[in-house]
Amino acid sequence: MIQLPTDSVAQVTDPGGRPLLELQGPEGTARVGLLGAHVQSWVVKGEDEQLFMSSKASYEAGVASRGGIPVVFPWFGGHSTRTDLAAHGFARTSVWELAEVGPGPSVTLVLRDDEGTRAQWPHSFLAKYTVTLGDGLQVALSITNTGDEPFTYEEALHTYFKVGATEEASVHGLENVHFTEFAKSPAPDSDPTGPIYFSAETDRVYQGVPDTIQLRSHPRRGFMELKTKGADSAIVWNPWTEKAAAMSQMQDDEWEEFICVESANCKAFGVGLEPGQEHSLELTLTRLKPV
Ligand code: BG6
Repeated sequence: MIQLPTDSVAQVTDPGGRPLLELQGPEGTARVGLLGAHVQSWVVKGEDEQLFMSSKASYEAGVASRGGIPVVFPWFGGHSTRTDLAAHGFARTSVWELAEVGPGPSVTLVLRDDEGTRAQWPHSFLAKYTVTLGDGLQVALSITNTGDEPFTYEEALHTYFKVGATEEASVHGLENVHFTEFAKSPAPDSDPTGPIYFSAETDRVYQGVPDTIQLRSHPRRGFMELKTKGADSAIVWNPWTEKAAAMSQMQDDEWEEFICVESANCKAFGVGLEPGQEHSLELTLTRLKPV
């Protein structure tokens, strides 16, 4: 393990007893696990937790933990041909290595292909994930093709935002952007030219997205700004009642506490890399005061 500068990065443990790196800055704290490079917590000074973690979340190796910011790579959703492989790829259930610490409250984790990853996805890659705490929280996932053949991959920063109440939240910035709805029973009356409100299961993949999206919780709670670089897709997801009741690692009523707004490159907008090429997906989250 790399030596940690104790003033800005400390080692703590998750509820399952696994190591977490805690970034400590003047504006708050963030916690990231080596398992899945999973950001599990971001607390803004003077406010409460910004990320939702299910009270039933698993913290075991090999299990996709529900909440925080799961790293989705190298496929999004179910695998296109193999039903034996986990949805959303292996990055979120792999153990990453700590490669760099600092300067300041920042860590970089890496994941490389090995026998296990190549059995699922036959490519050589280097994934680097940097988490930095400043005025906001910045996460950057870069993928390099370290092999001899080109490949295409999908990726998402699958952020579970904690909201006061799902029905009072709204997403702004995706008005008039093309989307495909994957929810079985979506709200019949939603207006694609206006902000997104939640009154039913919502599972939309937006393509060709702008680089700024806002998630507003209850008006008194202010809002979250999501700024991305290198993201063509965004997913807006809440399972609502019925689907939530059937999901693992979720209390029946926890659907009311979160909305996922995912920053991604997926489906027809996957990323193609030639040997030696690199692509980076960056997300900066800033908590803005009530307007
Ligand atoms: C979303 C998909 O990205 O992830 C949903 O759009 C899916 O269709 C959800 O149900 C599942 O999330 P998780 O954390 O259970 O993999």
